[in-house]
Amino acid sequence: TLRAISPQDLAGKQVLVTLGPTREPWDGVRFWSNPSSGAMGACMAMAAYLRGAEVTVVAGPTGLLFPQAITVIPVRTALEMHRACLDLWPSMDIACATAAVADFRPIPHGPDKFKKGGASSLTVQFEANPDILKALGDSRRDGQQLIGFAAETGDPRAEAARKLESKGLDLIAANDVSRQGSGFGTATNEMFVLDRQGRRESWPVLPKTEVAWRLWDHLLLG
Ligand code: CTP
Ligand code: CA
Repeated sequence: TLRAISPQDLAGKQVLVTLGPTREPWDGVRFWSNPSSGAMGACMAMAAYLRGAEVTVVAGPTGLLFPQAITVIPVRTALEMHRACLDLWPSMDIACATAAVADFRPIPHGPDKFKKGGASSLTVQFEANPDILKALGDSRRDGQQLIGFAAETGDPRAEAARKLESKGLDLIAANDVSRQGSGFGTATNEMFVLDRQGRRESWPVLPKTEVAWRLWDHLLLG
């Protein structure tokens, strides 16, 4: 439950939060992206701040604003987010990856606006973006902790377990974004939570604010 007085159990900790969508340009006026609002990440960042952490947010384009005490590093593309996170990671204690990173980016058409001409169809080619969270997992040092999220359509349990393992996470929160009250642009989430000790929990639909608080409880208090 939420307490009126925050425990300062993240005091002295450097916490990195990725949030929002990434935006992958194609031509001078168009990009590939997704409807992530950054809300889950904002809630994780604010909860960490209230619990005493020094918080750095690497934010895709969302329009969200944060208290001055939170450092915000604005980025647009997955490659920019990747670079910013890898630069910060050695000085961080915990990273929490809520960003909806575009898995692929269009091979750019160029700086000018693409003209449709008389074309009746258009094929755009994509190339893979780096997996930022996996890169953090692969380069973690002793004591660093990682929280990941997973957005699935359908039962998220198997994918949560696979991603926890393959990305070297301490904790993962997965949701079925096709369910009512879960996913992009909602104020709530219905989470399946799994940790590296094998603890598994299915949470009801909860406000993202409370999901965030409970995730920090889970990581810090067990
Ligand atoms: N993630 C990331 N960098 C990427 C893709 C994902 O850091 N290029 C992070 C997300 O922020 C999230 C976790 O990895 O914490 C899982 O993201 P998700 O899209 O659910 O999984 P993917 O590994 O991208 O696999 P897929 O989209 O195929 O399910
Ligand atoms: Ca993905």
